[in-house]
Amino acid sequence: MDYKTIMSKHGEFLFPSVINYHAEPIAFAKAKGLRLTDVNDVEYLDFFGGILTVSLGHCHEGINAAIIEQMQKLGHTSTLYPNEMIVTMAEKMASILPEGLNRSFFVNSGTEADETAITIAKTHAGGNHDIIALRHCYSGRSTLTMNLCAHAAWRVLPTQVPGIKHAHAPYCYRCAMGLTYPECDLRCARDIEELIQTETCGRVAAFIAEPILGVGGFIVPPKDYFKVATEIVRKYGGIFIADEVQTGFGRTGTHMNGFEHYDVMPDVVTYAKGMANGFPIGCTVATDKVAKSFEGLTICTFGGNPLAMAAALATIETIEAENVLERSTERGAQLRAGLDRLAETHKWVGEVRGMGLMLAMELVEDRATKEPSPAKAVALMEAAKAEGLLIGKGGLYGNTLRIAPPMLVSEEDIDEGLKKLGKAMDQVN
Ligand SMILES: Cc1ncc(COP(=O)(O)O)c(C=O)c1O
Repeated sequence: MDYKTIMSKHGEFLFPSVINYHAEPIAFAKAKGLRLTDVNDVEYLDFFGGILTVSLGHCHEGINAAIIEQMQKLGHTSTLYPNEMIVTMAEKMASILPEGLNRSFFVNSGTEADETAITIAKTHAGGNHDIIALRHCYSGRSTLTMNLCAHAAWRVLPTQVPGIKHAHAPYCYRCAMGLTYPECDLRCARDIEELIQTETCGRVAAFIAEPILGVGGFIVPPKDYFKVATEIVRKYGGIFIADEVQTGFGRTGTHMNGFEHYDVMPDVVTYAKGMANGFPIGCTVATDKVAKSFEGLTICTFGGNPLAMAAALATIETIEAENVLERSTERGAQLRAGLDRLAETHKWVGEVRGMGLMLAMELVEDRATKEPSPAKAVALMEAAKAEGLLIGKGGLYGNTLRIAPPMLVSEEDIDEGLKKLGKAMDQVN
C-alpha cells in the first residue's frame, strides 16, 4: 500500500487521538536489526526500538523462529489450561529475580501489569486503598493507570480513581524543593512520610515507582532514594511495586532489572515492552505472600499465551547468550560519552542523563534559567528524522529526547547514530 493510501485510511478509520510522532508521519514497511525501511524505501537507524520494546532488534531470527515453531505446535488455550510454555516462562521469571519474587501473572501490556499489581497490593492490604505514586510517572491508559500517571496530558479525564497520592519525583535537575543532592538529604523521599501522615488515613497499600522514570524523560533517582522511600512506605504498611516496564531486561546495563541498581527489594515487579522483543506481553511478579492474598478468581484470556511465552523465553535466552547486560553497559557508556561531547558544543542541552542504553538529553532555552525548550525538541526530532535517525521524546514539558536503541546495537551503529544526531543538532538554532 502506498504512503498516501495509508495516511488517508489512517485519517478515516483510526481514532483521531492516536498520536503520530512527526509532522509528516513515517509509514514503515519492513525492518531488520536496527534498520527500519518505510514504504518509500527510505531507511532509518532505529534508536528508540518502538518505545524501548524491540529490545534486541527487529525481526530477530532466533526469536521469530521460536514463535513460528510454537505457532505450529500450540497457539492458544487460555489460562484455564496449564501448559508447558507458561510454567517454563514463570520459572524463568523467578530465575531472573531475587529469591522470593517467584509468582508470575501474565498479561498483555504494561497497563494490565500495573493494574494487576495495584489490585493485589490492595487485596494484600486488606481493604486499605491508598497508593503512593510519583509525579512525572507513567503507568498506562486504563482508568486506574491513567490516574496513576502524573502528566496532565496523559490523564485525558478529570480524576476518576480516589486514593492515589503523588509524591515529589526524585528529579534532581528540577528539584521541587530547590535543593541539591546529596546535601538535600533526600528531602523528596523523606517527604513521603508527611504525605502519608497528612493525605491518607495513616496506612497505605503500596508505593509504585519506575527505577528510571521513562515517559517522564528518563529521570534517574539518586542511588539511595528507593531505600529511604521504601522504608517509609513499609513503616505505614505498604508494599513496593517496581515498574520495570521500560527499565527491565537489561536496559539499564549490568543488571536484568532497574531496581537492582538501588539495593532495594520490591514485593511486586511489573514488566512489558522489551520482554518479548515486540510480541505483545506483560507480567506481574509477586512474592508468595502478596500473590496468595489475591483470593478471588482471575483469568486473562491471552495472558500466558504459548506464543507470547515462546517469544519471551527466546528473548531472555538471547539476552543471556549474547551477554546483553554487559553490552548494554558498554555500548551505553560509548553512547553516553558521545552525548556528553555533543552537549559541550550545544549549549541548549541542559542535562544528559540515564543508565545503560536508556539515555536522555533534556533541552532548555538557557542553561542558567533551565527554561524547558519543547520547540528545540520538536526541531531536533525532525532534523534527526531527515538524517535517517529515529529517537524518542518525553518529559512533562516535552523537552527531553529519549535515546534507547535495541541492545544488540554495535559499536559502529552507535558511532553512526551519534554522527547523525550531531548533524541534526547542528541544524537546530
Ligand atoms: C513505566 C511504564 N509503565 C506502564 C506503561 C504502560 O504500558 P503499555 O503501553 O504496554 O500499556 C508504560 C508505557 O509506556 C510505561 O512506560
